[in-house]
Amino acid sequence: MADRRKLAAGNWKMNGTADTLGMVETLAGAHGEARSELLICPPATLVHRLAGAVAGTSIAVGGQDCHWEETGAHTGDVSAAMLADAGASHVILGHSERRADHGETDAIVRAKTQAAWAAGLTAIVCVGETLAEREASNTIDIIGGQLAGSLPDQATGLNLVVAYEPVWAIGTGKVATADQIGEVHDEIRRRLEKRFGAGVGRSVRLLYGGSVKPDNAAEIFAVENVDGALIGGASLKADDFGGIIAALDAA
Ligand code: PGA
Repeated sequence: MADRRKLAAGNWKMNGTADTLGMVETLAGAHGEARSELLICPPATLVHRLAGAVAGTSIAVGGQDCHWEETGAHTGDVSAAMLADAGASHVILGHSERRADHGETDAIVRAKTQAAWAAGLTAIVCVGETLAEREASNTIDIIGGQLAGSLPDQATGLNLVVAYEPVWAIGTGKVATADQIGEVHDEIRRRLEKRFGAGVGRSVRLLYGGSVKPDNAAEIFAVENVDGALIGGASLKADDFGGIIAALDAA
């Protein structure tokens, strides 16, 4: 079994202003010694300030999206190089909210992943099925298609993390069962090994995301091939995020 360091990644989405940074101090104070790797992805406006606030702690900073080009006439967009320049080491790509709100296709996510890698960022590429797709028994096909289309060929265990986030479990309080998570994570692992070779396939970390809370975290982290979580709502509260980190450290 590959030696994969667990990762707890917070996704603040479109939440947070300067006064939200105070909770990070609390978190760093309580969990600075965590065994797991800790990452917070604030809105783009806070990346630089958060990077300053966590300097000297074990918390890393990531973006929530980037453009596929490095510079240019793209009003309102932020490039991977800009995120790196602001102090980010990671970027979330292909989140279902971006796929739904901004029409992001697998090809776009792939191009963005390549841009992230060119800027030296680790890409957290998200995949996940809708409720209708699950009910039609299409989950595995959908995830397989998203992986095939969204991941460039040069993946490594350092530049890529894959997050499985069932769309119906995001922000709804409906968490996938351990069996549902295990089935998809095992399949993702198999496909990564097949495409990138056993060494790389085994070293890429797989996160679960979708209504992860302190009270369901231990059960989720006990599932084979779950190497951590992508956490939305609960990552905005130091106590909740801290409870999830403690569960991950104990897993
Ligand atoms: P949630 O969001 O934890 O609020 O469900 C997870 C995500 O969208 O990354």
